Amino acid sequence: MNETSKPVHGMWTSRWVFILAATGSAVGLGNIWRFPYITGEYGGGAFVLLYLACIALIGVPIMIAEVTLGRRGGLSPIHSMGRLAEQSKVSRRWKGIGYLGALSGFLILSFYSVVASWALIYVWEAVRGLFQGMTALQSQGNFEAMQANPWLMLGSHSLFMVLTMGVVALGVKRGLERAVEVLMPLLFVLLLVLIGYAATTPGFAQGVAFLFAFDFSKLSGEAVVIALGQAFFTLSLGMGAIMAYGAYMPREIKNKKTGRSRPVSIASSVAIIALLDTLVALGAGLAMFPLLFTGNLEPAQGPGMMFVTLPLAFGQMPGGVLFGSLFFVLVVCAAWTSSISLGEPMVAWLVERGKSRWAASLLVGGAAWVLGVGSVLSFNLWKEHTFLMGTFFDNIEFLSTSILLPLGGLLIALFAGWVMKETQVRKELAMKSFALYMVWRALVRIFSPLAMIAVIAYALWSATR
Ligand code: PFF
Ligand code: NA
Repeated sequence: MNETSKPVHGMWTSRWVFILAATGSAVGLGNIWRFPYITGEYGGGAFVLLYLACIALIGVPIMIAEVTLGRRGGLSPIHSMGRLAEQSKVSRRWKGIGYLGALSGFLILSFYSVVASWALIYVWEAVRGLFQGMTALQSQGNFEAMQANPWLMLGSHSLFMVLTMGVVALGVKRGLERAVEVLMPLLFVLLLVLIGYAATTPGFAQGVAFLFAFDFSKLSGEAVVIALGQAFFTLSLGMGAIMAYGAYMPREIKNKKTGRSRPVSIASSVAIIALLDTLVALGAGLAMFPLLFTGNLEPAQGPGMMFVTLPLAFGQMPGGVLFGSLFFVLVVCAAWTSSISLGEPMVAWLVERGKSRWAASLLVGGAAWVLGVGSVLSFNLWKEHTFLMGTFFDNIEFLSTSILLPLGGLLIALFAGWVMKETQVRKELAMKSFALYMVWRALVRIFSPLAMIAVIAYALWSATR
């Protein structure tokens, strides 16, 4: 392992590339698939408000902590945590944050690829005009037929994994950086086009009202925990993806004209990333709900909303083939830049241990692919084999997103808030406003850990119910 502070993996070219890459990690299935359907299930506007509060009060502070650990460590999350534990003169066991993150990233990558690959299949179906004139029953049948076909899903899962690990194999500059520079602008343009399209439909006003009308009677304790978990998942926190990206973030950047160096601020970068992620989630809601209302469809559809209800809406509208295709291209782009960030931490770790990037990517991608086959089979051949939380897929999803991510977040908050020397943290953060710094510190030391404990406790409690 390279012990100097010279970057082994390369650095982002600029602060904006870091912001773009981290936003690429954040914006994904969580925004376009999960956020709209849980908002639909938990009743709309009031849930949105709750979610925004969770982003601001828990998501942003933990993200700042995670980037800070990453930039200070300068390596893959596992080696960064080892290094930071050493510097802080605490037990090397804190390196466990890195291992835990690598494990959850690996588990998430395995099933994320499977769900993303449904979107890949749907691009193809949308382009062929398959959704045109479909009835509700046919749309349901179409989704079920895809899930019942292990070969089809295996094929698309393989393709998506190759796309993901191919980019990771190319490295930080030639792979990750180039991918986000193309895919993120494309994503924003597609989203704007789709919102514009939704704005022309008769259900637009109803869709907007659904997202932004606050009916507090619908809120419950459960909604709070769900909003918290979503805020966490959507910002890619707790597993080292953001830590790894933080390690490639320069400390200072030279102004080309004046030649003077300016510090690159972590806090303001994180604020932008969280804002962009939130705008995309709300934008996805704005693009989807009006179509549902226009087609007289129910917004509370659960996970099938994007794959059953939305195609139905596209099938009934003028221009549905074009905009339906664009929509699923958007989903694929968003998922792609997220899955890259799921693979990067482990590949970076293996590279530091002497493997080549290609070999490491092949290894990580291959292993995640194998595990993903279990998720593919969960929808067909293994459908009846349920244990604990349900199918194999359900268990992997529950373990990683409801237990391991919040656990990682808890440990990251504790490390940044209590373990690291305050002088180091302050230097790395270099926040201009002392008042804001104190607010962050209080949130990360006390408020965030308590919230994470609540999320984990709720998950365990709901699992044993
Ligand atoms: N933030 C991604 C989404 O909203 O889809 C999911 C994710 C990506 C979670 C990367 C965690 C991660 F490390
Ligand atoms: Na997200």
